Amino acid sequence: MPPKHFLQFKDLSLEEYDYLFERASRIKQAFKQYKPYRPLVDRTLAMIFDKNSTRTRLSFEAGMDQLGGSSIYLSTRDTQLGRGEPVEDAARVISRMVDIIMVRTYEHELLQRFADHSNVPVINGLTDEYHPCQILADIFTFIEYRGDIQGKTIAWIGDANNMCNTWLQAAEIFDFKIHVSTPPGYDIEPKQIGLRNTSHFEDFVSPHDAVKNVDLVTTDVWTSMGFEAEAEQRNADFAEFCVDAEMMALAKDNALFMHCLPAHRGEEVAAEVIDGPQSVVWDEAENRLHTQKALLEYLLMGKVENS
Ligand code: CP
Ligand code: NVA
Repeated sequence: MPPKHFLQFKDLSLEEYDYLFERASRIKQAFKQYKPYRPLVDRTLAMIFDKNSTRTRLSFEAGMDQLGGSSIYLSTRDTQLGRGEPVEDAARVISRMVDIIMVRTYEHELLQRFADHSNVPVINGLTDEYHPCQILADIFTFIEYRGDIQGKTIAWIGDANNMCNTWLQAAEIFDFKIHVSTPPGYDIEPKQIGLRNTSHFEDFVSPHDAVKNVDLVTTDVWTSMGFEAEAEQRNADFAEFCVDAEMMALAKDNALFMHCLPAHRGEEVAAEVIDGPQSVVWDEAENRLHTQKALLEYLLMGKVENS
């Protein structure tokens, strides 16, 4: 049996997400009560970083430690991966020595090749195209605040990037709607990200129209890692896409605001929004820890009895 990977959001089913959220909730509760839970003793996670990270590294490393296992940080800057060792060879070797692997890299295709040659589960810690671990935490956070996400409407404002693509995949699984507003020339590519139909998203030219009556407003940096050469052009193209208080006021009164972080106040989001009462960004960041612990447990142990 090939190992079960988590490379794109659509790799898991609604039933598996329901299970993961139930486990994440219990794991979070135990953690808050200082109750030790160490099912992963003697298990090792290798984390390969080809791009910078604060939250992803910390949440995987702390999470693995809290579950009784250990983790190893590998950077392409100081491993043979950065000197041209074929990704297939690296996957074969690394997966013989550890139990599970997380990779943060550029092209998704590279991650797919790595996973195809790994004997153990591989988790996508962010690629140019997708960021499934973040959306796992985001939907868990939404449910904590507002209950079921099915039938709700979410506004995505800004770049059609890895976060946006992953929200779009999630909408099909959880059956919610996304209003997408991106500047001309930065459009979403539904076919390329494997969307089955168009009924779960709607394009809006105006970000103000996109946020009307939605349950959640979310955005991300205008220039993602790897696209720095375009930053100046992007700053000009995205100038009208800052989520500010005026824009938030068009959403439902109880609408939440999310951002995967790191954020640039005054660019994609105004300080008054990200630091305001509708923002749940700190819970969103913390929930990376709890949801990924549930994911690690599931990929390594399958379904466990609730404890
Ligand atoms: N949100 C997120 O993935 O943050 P890092 O880049 O700090 O890991
Ligand atoms: N879209 C951003 C997310 C960072 C967590 C990037 O890829 O840089």
